[in-house]
Amino acid sequence: MKYKVGVIAGDGIGPEVVAEAKKVLNRIGEVFGHEFCYEEILMGGCSIDATGVPLTEEAIAAAKVSDAVLMGSIGGDAKTSPWYQLPPELRPEAGLLKLRKSLKLFANLRPAYLYKELKSACPLREDIANAGFDMMIMRELTGGLYFGERKTEELDGVMTAVDTLVYNENEIYRIAKRGFDIAMKRKKKVTSVDKANVLDSSRLWRKVVEKVAKDYPEVACEHMLVDNCAMQLVRNPAQFDVILTENMFGDILSDEASMITGSIGMLPSASLNDTKFGLYEPSGGSAPDIAGKGIANPIATILSAAMMLRYSFDLDKEAEVVEAAVKKVLTDGYRTEDIAPQIVCSNNGIEIVGTAKMGDLVCENIR
Ligand code: IPM
Ligand code: MN
Repeated sequence: MKYKVGVIAGDGIGPEVVAEAKKVLNRIGEVFGHEFCYEEILMGGCSIDATGVPLTEEAIAAAKVSDAVLMGSIGGDAKTSPWYQLPPELRPEAGLLKLRKSLKLFANLRPAYLYKELKSACPLREDIANAGFDMMIMRELTGGLYFGERKTEELDGVMTAVDTLVYNENEIYRIAKRGFDIAMKRKKKVTSVDKANVLDSSRLWRKVVEKVAKDYPEVACEHMLVDNCAMQLVRNPAQFDVILTENMFGDILSDEASMITGSIGMLPSASLNDTKFGLYEPSGGSAPDIAGKGIANPIATILSAAMMLRYSFDLDKEAEVVEAAVKKVLTDGYRTEDIAPQIVCSNNGIEIVGTAKMGDLVCENIR
């Protein structure tokens, strides 16, 4: 089969990590007889530099005609980059939000898994790391605080800012349904995370999730307040299977979950709508501090490409082969700096490698 992949390399480490994911896709193509053709799409700071805006209509159109989009990361250093002198709607992040909204990518899947090889990179207590964890954070991606009305104005001489958190029952229903569907293919447990002791939007969220849960009698459904969830993630992450939550809570909890896997450089993500189309990107940012150094961890992006194979192309076997190759490389002792143990000596079997070498090693293990 031939697949048309839109590629948003973006800013910072984006182009470096995307190059490795493309290498891996090409290797899969060779071994399994698929053809991936790529179309570069501008978004983020590089689009601002080239066109004046973070995402053009042409870029949206190019994404729409792709079978799926592979993305690196966007944005720069908020203190030093000229992009952040622009009004918020013209900054790099606005491009990503517009793309998510235009393509109706309401379901964001962020799997957080602790490889046993990375236990020493996990900042949790040894007994907790030893128990391991394997969870899927399902984050609603096109509603809530990110897309509600906002304004900043002077009221009675006092600067005042407002953001609004809006969800309707249909938006909650479709993400909840997706969460339960995914739970059915996993350990059949959904933890719906909200702040129902304070927020109306959370009370509606809980009600709709309860209703959806009735259609999935095999799935255990529990509700957890977001502050408690943040605590449980570091106390006992093994308890989670699917974490189902709204946009902002999901943003925060997925960063927390990524760190306990060893590094944010390990966490892939898929943003899906109700077609086969998806946008696949590492959960981490553009890391401007290490951009261009060839040391960024490409694993999250490579695993995002594996998610593309699975969710957009139904190539489950190929996705598993990529995931197994990543695991093999870790078992063989190769690490990028972010996941390396603190002490690397010649006899602990660990070798620190750069971005490109890590991509090559994954390819070598795809046969
Ligand atoms: C993410 C990022 C984005 C978000 C930013 C870049 C707008 O942090 O994908 O988690 O907040 O959704
Ligand atoms: Mn985030």
